[in-house]
Amino acid sequence: MSTTFGVAYYPEHWPETRWATDARLMREAGIDTVRLAEFAWAQMEPAPGDYTFDWLDRAVELFAQEGFRIIMCTPTAAPPAWLVQRYPDMLPVDDQGRRRAFGSRRHVCPNHAGFHAETERIVRVLGERYGAHPAVIGWQLDNEWGGGRSTRCYCPNCVAAFRRWLQARYGSLDALNDAWGADFWSQRYTAWEQIGAPILTVSTPNPSHVLDYYRFMSDAWVAYQQRQIDVLRPLLPEGRFITHNFMGLFDEIDYHALAQPLDFITWDSYPTGHEDRWSEKVYTPDETPPPHAYDTGDPFITEMAHDVMRGLQNKPFWVMEQQCGFINWGFYNQAPRPAVIRLWSWQAVAHGADALVYFRWRAVRYAQEQFHSGLLRHDGEPADGWHVVRRLQAERALLERLQATQTPAEVAMLLAYDDVWALDLQPHHREFRYWRHFGAYYRALRRAGVDVDIVAPRADLSRYKLVIAPTLYLVDDALAAHLHAYVAQGGHLVLGVRSGFKTPTNLVTEAPLPGALRALVGARVEAWHSLPPTTTYRARFDHLHETPIHLWAEALTPETATPVGFYTTSPLAPHAAMTEHVVGKGLVTYVGVWPSRALLDTFVPHWLDRAHVARLLTIPDGVTVASRQGEEGRYLFICNWTEQVARVFLPLKGKDALSGAPVGGDIPVPPLDVRILIV
Ligand code: GAL
Ligand code: ZN
Repeated sequence: MSTTFGVAYYPEHWPETRWATDARLMREAGIDTVRLAEFAWAQMEPAPGDYTFDWLDRAVELFAQEGFRIIMCTPTAAPPAWLVQRYPDMLPVDDQGRRRAFGSRRHVCPNHAGFHAETERIVRVLGERYGAHPAVIGWQLDNEWGGGRSTRCYCPNCVAAFRRWLQARYGSLDALNDAWGADFWSQRYTAWEQIGAPILTVSTPNPSHVLDYYRFMSDAWVAYQQRQIDVLRPLLPEGRFITHNFMGLFDEIDYHALAQPLDFITWDSYPTGHEDRWSEKVYTPDETPPPHAYDTGDPFITEMAHDVMRGLQNKPFWVMEQQCGFINWGFYNQAPRPAVIRLWSWQAVAHGADALVYFRWRAVRYAQEQFHSGLLRHDGEPADGWHVVRRLQAERALLERLQATQTPAEVAMLLAYDDVWALDLQPHHREFRYWRHFGAYYRALRRAGVDVDIVAPRADLSRYKLVIAPTLYLVDDALAAHLHAYVAQGGHLVLGVRSGFKTPTNLVTEAPLPGALRALVGARVEAWHSLPPTTTYRARFDHLHETPIHLWAEALTPETATPVGFYTTSPLAPHAAMTEHVVGKGLVTYVGVWPSRALLDTFVPHWLDRAHVARLLTIPDGVTVASRQGEEGRYLFICNWTEQVARVFLPLKGKDALSGAPVGGDIPVPPLDVRILIV
């Protein structure tokens, strides 16, 4: 049996007399895996060294006997009150210099030596106790590192660790002063102890200082995770996994680095909450999100988050928390209809999920998450989510057939977390955000009907026919050489505005723009204009009549590249607005403007065709498509997020994966439903 349907279960929230009923109801719904012990530190160890694992032993035995698989969690996201009492300085300090308090979760400084020792102790005790248990298939470390704005601690202990981190990185103060441009405003440091956290400055702090602090805190969490792995791994028999539950478009930790030592990654998908939280992050204020029903969340945000998550290791992942009803932390917390819960589940699989672990089993009556639903209602009766999971059992065979199948993307986008940090620190335009710019390109690729891998800039790009880097911001010669090699061998690289502007320490390059990328681009960026909302420039492109340009415009002078677009009636006329450069067997396009939908919907299909990327479908508004490559062919998942029947046109012949019926041509997709086709 493999893990296909799981659920988060907190036995400590319910009387033990209820557990057997819960296990029976789980089995009836088709749940095969339970996630246990997250946040239960105070129940495992009510006083220092006084272990009370009897309840957890009994829960583990009960589920093991009933044939469930168990995911065990380390409880370090919720250190108990006695630990905080012993180490008051393990509480983090926020960017206002305030010590945070006990009483919720994630109240930890990741650099606290006492907390490190306590972490290693509790992880060791748990690992020794349950690591070899036959039912415990793997481990989730902690819960959502960085969640609830808990990434960045500014306590004295962190500042001391930051200085050590800087010493290791720069070696000397002279090197640091140069790397940060410390001659500005008399910022030169003459002793390491003078360096503080980049908070509470009177005017804005130095962006190189801030960027390094962000990197340092990200590294601190990666190192903290490694402490847990180092203790746990030797205690686990071969084949048991170690993972963590990531958070989609959360970006305060370098997720590529965090994912690296894990067996696979998992993430927590809450489409209605993510629409509330992330719309602003991925759309400019004048953009209209694509149509979708009131309770689906924004499916385009969800799919981008799935793709970002799959890209961390570029392989299938799990959803460790799948929303299965209303949540408590959104703006409105709408109750999703059963059809929507099923559609979310299939969308996750479509993008590479191998297992769906729902959050949570039963709505809890007390504390912070009282208003969060589960598969069961507060009263213990099945909620809509339970019925959905039970009905999904009819489709289980297909789900299992898809496990471990890959996403056959021929297109990649490049994502770098330190680019997100550096760009958003100095956006130079109120509405310019890394993810908005990224999102514009991503959505255009999706509208064009292709799968997209989202990978780190230094990843192996050789399998991609088209690579888009909306803003490759911090660039050194090694990165430029890596991209050059990709293009020279026949790749098509599209670079967006502000690429190559900066060095890795967040200084503007001293070379003409785009800096280290200039030879690759074959053009110079002579000037850039930040356009207020009331200002519109105009440009004309090879495949597009004169079109308005908003937000950002760069003047290009081709050197060895060919111009394929020019500004017309604007201060930047007659400069080029887009160039193409043949390099070896490949091509580099530099897009010198913030890309409008019209521009992208013209050029993205053109780039795809030129790179011979297969496009399988024309996708109407309100529909998303993703695919996985199975043994029998390519599985296409066509999800309709609207209340109306959608029609897609499939130019090939295939069959319906669920009914086996032949399909081709015009294909109707019922409202809030998915069609799964094998082509
Ligand atoms: C997640 C978290 C869970 C729970 C859930 C509520 O972010 O991992 O523990 O709080 O949100 O939606
Ligand atoms: Zn700290």
